Amino acid sequence: MARDILIAPSILAADFADFGREVRAVEVEGADWIHIDVMDGHFVPNLTFGPPMVKALRPHVTTFMDVHLMIAPVDPMIEAFAEAGADLLTAHLEAGPHPHRTLQAIRAAGMKAGLAVNPGTAVDAAAPLLDLCDLVCVMTVNPGFGGQTFIDSQLGQIARLREMIGDRPIRIEVDGGIDARTAPAVVSAGADVLVAGSAVFRGGTADEPAAYGANIRDLRKAATL
Ligand code: DX5
Ligand code: ZN
Repeated sequence: MARDILIAPSILAADFADFGREVRAVEVEGADWIHIDVMDGHFVPNLTFGPPMVKALRPHVTTFMDVHLMIAPVDPMIEAFAEAGADLLTAHLEAGPHPHRTLQAIRAAGMKAGLAVNPGTAVDAAAPLLDLCDLVCVMTVNPGFGGQTFIDSQLGQIARLREMIGDRPIRIEVDGGIDARTAPAVVSAGADVLVAGSAVFRGGTADEPAAYGANIRDLRKAATL
C-alpha cells in the first residue's frame, strides 16, 4: 500500500537562539511538519523548554505543530499545550499509569493525540489504546538527545504495529537516528512520519538554508520505495 510520507524536522537540532527563523527556513525548504521536543530533566535526562516557548513558536509554524512530550506527569500540562497551539500532542506510554486517560484528555482539549513507545516497551502494550490515537511514535533511539544511533531492533516493532493498526487511519511516526540510510527500512516496515533532527539541520543555518532543502529532498527520496 502506498502511503504519503511526511518529513518532520526536529528543532532539537536547530539553533536554540533562533527558533522562529529556523522553523520558517525548514518550512520554506520543504518540511511537512515541525517536531518539537519537550523534555523535563526527569522522564528523560535532558531539559529543553515548555509551553511558553511552544506558544512563541506558534505564529512561525504554518504547517503542523507536532509536540512530543518527554515529561511525566503529562496530564497537568495538557491544557497549557492546547493553549500554546499544539496541533498534535504526543505522550509516552511509559509516562504514567493511566495513558488511556491521558489520550482522552488530549483529544478533549481539542488536539490530535499521539502515543510514543520507548525501545524497551513492546508495541503490543499500545493495542488497547489504538482507537484513542491519531499517531503512534515508535522511538528508534532512547529519548533524550539528538544525534544518537538508530536501534535496528525497532524495525520489527514498527512492522508489528503496522499489522496491529490494520486499515485504521493512524499514522506511524519514527523518531531518532533517521537519515537517508535508515529511512528506506523504516518506511518499508510501515512508518509514514519521519522525524529527523541532525539529518535535516546539518550543514545549514537560517541564513544559509539551502542544505536544509537538500537534506529534506535526500530523505524524501530515500523514503520513496
Ligand atoms: C530524541 C528526540 C528526537 C531527536 C531526534 O529524544 O525525541 O526528536 O530530536 O534527533 P536525531 O534525528 O538527530 O536522532
Ligand atoms: Zn522527538
